This record gives sequence, C-alpha cells and structure tokens, in this order.
Amino acid sequence: MISPRLRTPAVLALAAGTAALVRPVWRSARGRGPGFDRVSAAAGVSAQFDQDAASYDRLVGANPGYHEHLRLSARRLGLPDRGAGATLLDVGCGTGLSTAALLETYPEARIVAVDASVEMLARAREKSWPGTVRFVHARAEDLTAALGGEGPFDGLLAAYLVRNLPDRDAGLGVLVEHLAPGAPIAVHEYSVADSPYARAVWSAVCWAVIIPLGWRVTGDASLYRYLWRSVLAFDGLGRLEQRLRDSGLRDVHTRPVDGWQRGIVHTVLGRRSG
Ligand SMILES: C[S@@+](CC[C@H](N)C(=O)[O-])C[C@H]1O[C@@H](n2cnc3c(N)ncnc32)[C@H](O)[C@@H]1O
Repeated sequence: MISPRLRTPAVLALAAGTAALVRPVWRSARGRGPGFDRVSAAAGVSAQFDQDAASYDRLVGANPGYHEHLRLSARRLGLPDRGAGATLLDVGCGTGLSTAALLETYPEARIVAVDASVEMLARAREKSWPGTVRFVHARAEDLTAALGGEGPFDGLLAAYLVRNLPDRDAGLGVLVEHLAPGAPIAVHEYSVADSPYARAVWSAVCWAVIIPLGWRVTGDASLYRYLWRSVLAFDGLGRLEQRLRDSGLRDVHTRPVDGWQRGIVHTVLGRRSG
C-alpha cells in the first residue's frame, strides 16, 4: 500500500514512464485503422471477451490482488455455514474466477454461474468443478428465460459486470428480481468518477501497465482500452449506490479493497428489500 505522502510522486512516476510504453501501443492502434476500436457498442462487449478469453486468466493473474479481492467480495455476502443449503448466482462469471471465489468461500452452496460470452464460458467449463456448480450461457438481461424459473437465490455476486450492461438500471432490476427477500448482492466493480486522484491513478496504471501488457500478450489492446475508457465513463459510487437502491435493494453501502486498487475497486453491497 502506497502511503498518502508517496502517492502523488508514485503516480507521477507511473505517468512519466507511461509515455515510452504507450508509443508502440498507440502506433499499433493507429495502424489498425478505424476498425481497431471494436469495443464501442454494448453488443460488442461479449464478442470482445470471446476474442480475448484465451489470455484472460493470464492477464488478470498478473494483477496483484485480483483473486483475493474477488474472495473478499464473496465473503462480504456474509452467508453462514459455508453456504450450506444456499443457492448462489454469479452473473458475468467469465472464465470462472469469480465462481471460484464463491466456491472457495461457500463450498457447501450450489452455484449457478452465468455469462454472455461463449468463449469465456468454455474456459470456465474446462476447469475442474464439483457437481454443485453449473454454467449457463445467457445475457444478464435474459436471466429469467435462461434459468427457467429457478430461484429465488440466496446471494449474488456480479464481478466486473454492471459497468458492461447496456441498460444498467434494467439489468440490475433483473438481477434483484432473482434474489430472495433479504438476500445479499455484492457488486464488485471499478468506480473512479467521484475522485480525481482515483481517476489519475487508474489512467496511469492503464497506460503504463494494463494496455501495453494486453497488447503484448494478445497483439490487440482494444479490450484493455475499452476497460480504461469504460471505467472512466462509469458511475461514481454515489450514483451506483442510488441505482442499487432504486432497483429494490436496502442497506446499500460500499467497502474498499486494499492494494493499488484502493479507491478504484469496490464492493457495493445491498439486500433485496422485503
Ligand atoms: C471482466 S469479465 C469478469 C469475469 C469474472 N466475473 C471475473 O471476475 O473474473 C466480465 C464478464 O461479463 C460478461 N458480460 C458482459 N456483459 C454481459 C451481459 N450483458 N450479460 C452477461 N454477461 C455479460 C463478459 O462476457 C465477461 O465474461
């Protein structure tokens, strides 16, 4: 954890180092012409995850704290007895990293993990899972039809999903509908809009590390440039918390994570009213 006194110089150093690293990525981006920025429409988000599924685990594995933060958000659901008797939803499960966090935290629970990307789900399915974990291919918006009346659920984790929803209020409404009254939800997400400091650190880390690394590993940084832009454009915490209240949650509050992500990645928690 960088002490507050050292944060500004550290960010400036990161930003200074950024220029050299950015140049080849920027050159590559321009070389690909107008089609390069393919991740612009909501419909394209899962297609882009399809394309980058093979390298996803490797890239996020290089991000210190990624797995621990998912486990932290899973624990913050606060379910008793290792999840015995509970059925949990992991929406936007991707390659199953958030599913693994749920499973580790609640090994006695049944888990239904949902994602819109065929390729991300294929990576998830090829891992080893107990019979209590089931994967479903569906958009969050289509959960009701995809789950065929299964539920209500005793807890829900949405890790890095909500920012990607084309209509966040409608999407959140669907997630909340699938919770039992009083059941908890954890929205694990980036949010920097309320803090100039968090925005500066986010941009420095993206352009110094994440985008160049994505480009080196995949030869195409568009998903990582989308990540940078979409986080900058996403709700501040106040706005996100209000969306959750408006979608039918009570006791909405936010808790931080540690590491460079402090103030950038958050667990936003709530419970279905009623
Ligand atoms: C950044 S990944 C997060 C994966 C996993 N939760 C994790 O923490 O590693 C976001 C995932 O959300 C999925 N996604 C995006 N929009 C979606 C939607 N509307 N419905 C379901 N999944 C969606 C993408 O396909 C992608 O796999």
